[in-house]
Amino acid sequence: MHKKYVVFFRICREFLLGVLTLYKSKKIKQNMSKVSIIGAGNVGASCAEYIAMKNFAAEVVLLDIKENFAEGKALDLMQTAALNGFDTRISGSTNDYSKTANSDVIVITSGIPRKPGMTREELIGINAGIVKTVMENCMQHSPNAVIVIVSNPMDTMTYLAKTTSGLAKNRIIGMGGALDSARFKYYLSTALGCPASDVDGMVIGGHGDTTMIPLTRMASYKGVPVSNFLSADVLDKVKADTMVGGATLTGMLGTSAWYAPGAAVSVLVQSIVCDQKKMMPCCVALDGEYGQSDICIGVPVILGKNGWEKIVALDLNDSEKAEFEKSAAAVRSMNSAL
Ligand code: LAC
Repeated sequence: MHKKYVVFFRICREFLLGVLTLYKSKKIKQNMSKVSIIGAGNVGASCAEYIAMKNFAAEVVLLDIKENFAEGKALDLMQTAALNGFDTRISGSTNDYSKTANSDVIVITSGIPRKPGMTREELIGINAGIVKTVMENCMQHSPNAVIVIVSNPMDTMTYLAKTTSGLAKNRIIGMGGALDSARFKYYLSTALGCPASDVDGMVIGGHGDTTMIPLTRMASYKGVPVSNFLSADVLDKVKADTMVGGATLTGMLGTSAWYAPGAAVSVLVQSIVCDQKKMMPCCVALDGEYGQSDICIGVPVILGKNGWEKIVALDLNDSEKAEFEKSAAAVRSMNSAL
């Protein structure tokens, strides 16, 4: 009888220790996530800063082709760690991709940004070559990473990354919709006179001045349709301002924006690394969803540890459907320039 109890307690103890080890290894895995950011310009450095401030990744590697540039940005950011209270280790590298090895997520911001008066589409030739080379280097050292594309024209660069890498479609995500939706919520909040955090709304379609589709009909102020508060004219203005949200900044700053793009990337990356299952519009490969195939374009997706895990079907009305088709046709014609 006594011996039986001893055996029973031993089994219980082993079982509990096993559960504890499993729990710990899960936690360690969560805390050991590595994010690499290719291109340490304004957008790349902002991504690193926002990711560190959210304190969810163990390691961020910034990489740039310019000698000592990424190292300098990383060092500057690390000198803020004590002030800002983050534990993320940020390091820099001059084009040594081995430093990015075994990344969980890689953010590609490489390429030239647009100048005032330029469309994102005009960058296609030069940025296509850059993104293709960067993708090859990244895949060599992190074959299992989820790739987030920021380089412009973002829809075409995402399509290029998808078609040339052979990666599973769920692992390639263009970040435009997350950024455009944040801008949409900002313009809605100024029209409503409320905090942007009270507003919900999404922008789908392409990430271009004429291809994005801010869904005003579905936007809400704490769940109440914004059309209950704002006239059709005001909503048209919000929509127009959102569509040129990036171009307005390029005109003011002389180069492409970085705070909002960096923040959008950090939210997207956190949802992947921490398996949060957030729903955000992102540029992903469609396989018949929304009536489209052989294209990467913005639609709402669920983001988790496997990249984009599910495409969410929206109940678009006829005019929204027509806008989406027009946007897809424009994105497709851009892709044909590859
Ligand atoms: C923008 C760039 C990142 O919209 O595409 O600001």
